Amino acid sequence: MPVSQSPSETSPDSLSGTRVLLIISGGIAAYKSLDLIRRLRARGARVRPVMTAGAQAFVTPLAVGALAADKVFTELFSREDEQDVGHIRLARDCDLVLVAPATANIMAKMAQGLTDDLASTILLATDRPVLLAPAMNPKMWSHPATRRNRETLAGDGIGFVGPGLGEMAESGERGEGRMAEPLEIVAAVEARLAKTQPTSLPGSGPTGPLSGRRAIVTSGPTHEPIDPVRYIANRSSGRQGHAIAAALARLGAEVTLVSGPVTLADPKGVTVVRVQTAVEMRDAVLAALPADIAVMVAAVADWRVADVAGGKIKKAPGEDPPPLQLTENPDILKTVGHHAQRPRLVVGFAAETDDTVDNGRLKLARKGADFIVANDVSAGSGVAGGVMGGTRNRVTVIGRDSEESWPELDKGMVAERLAALIAARLG
Ligand SMILES: Cc1cc2nc3c(=O)[nH]c(=O)nc-3n(C[C@H](O)[C@H](O)[C@H](O)COP(=O)(O)O)c2cc1C
Repeated sequence: MPVSQSPSETSPDSLSGTRVLLIISGGIAAYKSLDLIRRLRARGARVRPVMTAGAQAFVTPLAVGALAADKVFTELFSREDEQDVGHIRLARDCDLVLVAPATANIMAKMAQGLTDDLASTILLATDRPVLLAPAMNPKMWSHPATRRNRETLAGDGIGFVGPGLGEMAESGERGEGRMAEPLEIVAAVEARLAKTQPTSLPGSGPTGPLSGRRAIVTSGPTHEPIDPVRYIANRSSGRQGHAIAAALARLGAEVTLVSGPVTLADPKGVTVVRVQTAVEMRDAVLAALPADIAVMVAAVADWRVADVAGGKIKKAPGEDPPPLQLTENPDILKTVGHHAQRPRLVVGFAAETDDTVDNGRLKLARKGADFIVANDVSAGSGVAGGVMGGTRNRVTVIGRDSEESWPELDKGMVAERLAALIAARLG
């Protein structure tokens, strides 16, 4: 099931003045593009549609043009269109190129740089950000060829929204491949544009779908002292938490990042509170309340040393190693999830090595969270370089009545998708 959206018609001006070139390719999900056009326009975007020949087998240019209130471009070798606008101008006269649905075919052509129709030529000629909303049968999506193409495109800086888990419209098969819902795509468009445009103007506050919202993000490991020189730690780098703080700030949120010891630079436009231990992190998070959003990403140590030695513990010849008595640390996510000032949206990260989704689901209820982002951090999780300390992540986003597995992505991309999801949820 895709992550559920609260269908909201608020934030009416979030795309005011922006120009979206919408390429519709030939998938059954093309019917959803009609609703997508309506949603984009409702937020103030101008939508200029381009349709592949395949797309026209599913929805008519007449319906698309009527909803977009604009001319629909379909032909590369059209004398009038070429004199009038031209394919290069089409590719550049916009703030973002959105492909929804993006077929396996158009992704393959993009990955290869093929240009045999108007849509693929625009995609090669554009210098604007490109966002794809893939939609296809789960077998097509998981095929090694599509996986390779997706990786190539992600490496080329192409953004992705979805696909999610769900039932295929035509075959009834379940699996990953269902196009993201129109509101999720709108949120991803907002996020992508917020990244490429300044989020604040001199003398004005930050703008974006999360402007006016306060967010608290935790990141990194905690260090639990044994004595003044030794501590217990874990492999968390803080990359995921810092990227989420930055992504929320780009969408206009006022972000407090409570960070354990990391070697990363502070994200731009974010207030950073540095802590060492779990207890300090809990105190800093509670001090940052009230907030609208809490995203608890830090790998907080479960235990700390019960009696921290005041001086360096000495090694004496012939003596047994000193026993370490541990005591439980505060559960920060649970504290926030059940707090009297509980933020409207509470998201927790769960690093698991076994039964990732089942354990994530149990945590959701126990901790009072709205979403648990479960990641498999076991050595065999398949993520190159490992999740903890690495640059990539593969997560399953578990909601109260939803579950969505995202492909392996750069942590920045995971952050962008999560921020877009949060923006969509908060309307
Ligand atoms: C009924 C039907 C449904 C299809 N749905 C999809 C789809 O959801 N995703 C996809 O990648 N291809 C789908 N295809 C195949 C594409 O239409 C086909 O690959 C076509 O060449 C895509 O062209 P385009 O990418 O230029 O639009 C479907 C084909 C048919 C006949």
